[in-house]
Amino acid sequence: MKNGLKNVLLGSYLILSGVMPAPVNAQKLHRLKPRPEVQAIVSESLQASVRQYNYLKQQLKPDQWPRTFEKGMLQTVTPAAWTSGFYPGGLLYLYEFSQDQGLLNEAKAKLEKMEPLKTMTAHHDLGFMMYCSYGNAYRLFGAPEDKAVLVRSAQSLARRFDPRVGCIQSWDQVKSLDGKRILKFPVIIDNMMNLELLFFASKATGEPLYKDIAIKHAEMTMKNQVRPDFSCYHVVDYDVETGAVKSRETQQGFSDNSAWSRGQAWGIYGFTMVYRETKDLRFLQTATGMADFFLNHPNLPKDKVPYWDFNVGQAGFDPPWNFDPLKYQPVPRDASAAAITASALLELAGYVDRKTGERYQHAAEIMLQSLSSPAYRAATGENGGFILKHASGGVPGNIEVDVPLIYADYYYLEALMRYRALKK
Ligand code: GLY
Repeated sequence: MKNGLKNVLLGSYLILSGVMPAPVNAQKLHRLKPRPEVQAIVSESLQASVRQYNYLKQQLKPDQWPRTFEKGMLQTVTPAAWTSGFYPGGLLYLYEFSQDQGLLNEAKAKLEKMEPLKTMTAHHDLGFMMYCSYGNAYRLFGAPEDKAVLVRSAQSLARRFDPRVGCIQSWDQVKSLDGKRILKFPVIIDNMMNLELLFFASKATGEPLYKDIAIKHAEMTMKNQVRPDFSCYHVVDYDVETGAVKSRETQQGFSDNSAWSRGQAWGIYGFTMVYRETKDLRFLQTATGMADFFLNHPNLPKDKVPYWDFNVGQAGFDPPWNFDPLKYQPVPRDASAAAITASALLELAGYVDRKTGERYQHAAEIMLQSLSSPAYRAATGENGGFILKHASGGVPGNIEVDVPLIYADYYYLEALMRYRALKK
């Protein structure tokens, strides 16, 4: 079938099903071309990041994975934490850039200790943990043993899929923020990121089951978690017997109906990746809708690094727990949400028409320029060895507010490397 006709038919299907397709026309897709002034910033930032991670690795013991730096103290975690893959993954991006053998050795030492995680089924974060670490190692070196670890990890993650609901269960259970209810089948928007491991496993093994699970999960998330204005709920709790939605709420955002910035970023990145893997226009439409919500939001600051939630303290947005919106002033930013979004936009920009693509590329460039400025990027030897400042983890729980976070660094490095890979 000619591409034009195929697009028309797909378009009709999507319109009938209530979803408007984003413009897709292979002839007019945006081809990203780097701007020299941004290239210079990217190159300098990668060099500075190599110096910074050489400092960071000296602060760590072999059984410590860096998470944040708070009150003058480096905070570390064990490999079982959801963030463990980001440090070795970031080291691998920096090795790819610099060929610095010391950084590669540090990455390999951490990977070796993470291998037993491949059988972990305690939560959904195995995708983050293994695909950002082992996935990058396999991309760079192609070792069959790394592929085997990834496939085994995908098997573990797939065990959390429940066909009655059509989703991977994110956490076993959690108390609602008001403390009154137990959510028994919570699915969080972050889960979109874990699907990349499943797509990989299907390609690596030829077994479609992993990808089928990923697609079903993405469809359910699109239906139940993304709002009509393309913002999203952080958490959807399902009835495991009937598959019905029991509640839509937040754990890390300002209110149940607000737009938690990092959740929005996970959605933009996740749906872009699912479109890459499926070429299904519904996912592209969701990715562009979520990106446009983020970029067009009147509360997005000029430097395009969002507040931790787009709706802090606004009328109509009430925290489900006892939280004073004025507690943190000025309202903390979340550099991680900007880094994740910048990386996603550099991919998404290549899947849309020229005008939209230019807009996405330009927004990503502003984010990278902001994050690379002294306002966000720390000087060598400062910030506990982390690259970026001003990220926010779990503000409602008073956890990691306005601090460096290892995943902000990881997606910043990924975005820098994606920009560096653009051809003139
Ligand atoms: N995935 C957990 C978070 O974004 O904080």
